[in-house]
Amino acid sequence: MLQIKDVSYIADDRTIIDDLSFTVNKGETIAVVGPSGSGKSTLFRLMSNLISPTKGSITLNGTPFEQINPEQLRMEVSYLLQQSDLFEPTIGLNLSFPARVRNEKFDKKHAKQLLKRVGMGHYNLDASVSHLSGGERQRITIARQLMYIPQILLLDEATSALDAKNRETIEKMIFDLANEGVTIMWITHNDDQSMRNFSKRIKIVNGKIESEENLS
Ligand SMILES: Nc1ncnc2c1ncn2[C@@H]1O[C@H](COP(=O)(O)OP(=O)(O)OP(=O)(O)O)[C@@H](O)[C@H]1O
Ligand SMILES: [Mg+2]
Repeated sequence: MLQIKDVSYIADDRTIIDDLSFTVNKGETIAVVGPSGSGKSTLFRLMSNLISPTKGSITLNGTPFEQINPEQLRMEVSYLLQQSDLFEPTIGLNLSFPARVRNEKFDKKHAKQLLKRVGMGHYNLDASVSHLSGGERQRITIARQLMYIPQILLLDEATSALDAKNRETIEKMIFDLANEGVTIMWITHNDDQSMRNFSKRIKIVNGKIESEENLS
């Protein structure tokens, strides 16, 4: 469904992604591993159209990224950032943001359900985010990202700030989505996490895919 072909990304004369080709098929769950600074987040930024390749092409279901409306693309390929990015003052305003972008009615009931599912059900929608802990912010970010279901979900160490119990809860939520047909790519430093549940593991080193391994 998503095809990366001969893609390079060069910034400040440095080749960060180096002639990388890769195809993501529908329903796959792919763990992305590799040393710090190897280009994993940069690859996700390319795949979610936050930056454009210096060279090469990326297509979604056969259509080059340049020909897809950027807002539409962002809804189909959803990137959950490495750091939580809550840019609104309250939980509710953060969770209603995806609806506002789409000019749709905010589904409060769904928001409350999601809040509960990420273990934040004891908070009200009008609660301020300013005093939330790192892990709580991360969980609100995940809930916001799941208000709408994308075709492809890119997760960048999305559970790094969470304790084991919450991490398990979130992992279960994400893999439930995979069972419903959402394609998942997940950058992780957690070996445990990268082995369990995933259908494939790719290792990025120096902006290239060093290995690609099918898991079962
Ligand atoms: N716009 C840019 N300009 C210059 N250098 C950049 C730019 N974007 C990324 N880099 C560099 O590219 C390299 C890869 O960065 P990236 O964030 O993709 O690594 P990563 O594999 O996600 O690392 P980590 O595991 O630590 O998150 C880093 O050395 C980073 O400093
Ligand atoms: Mg990174």
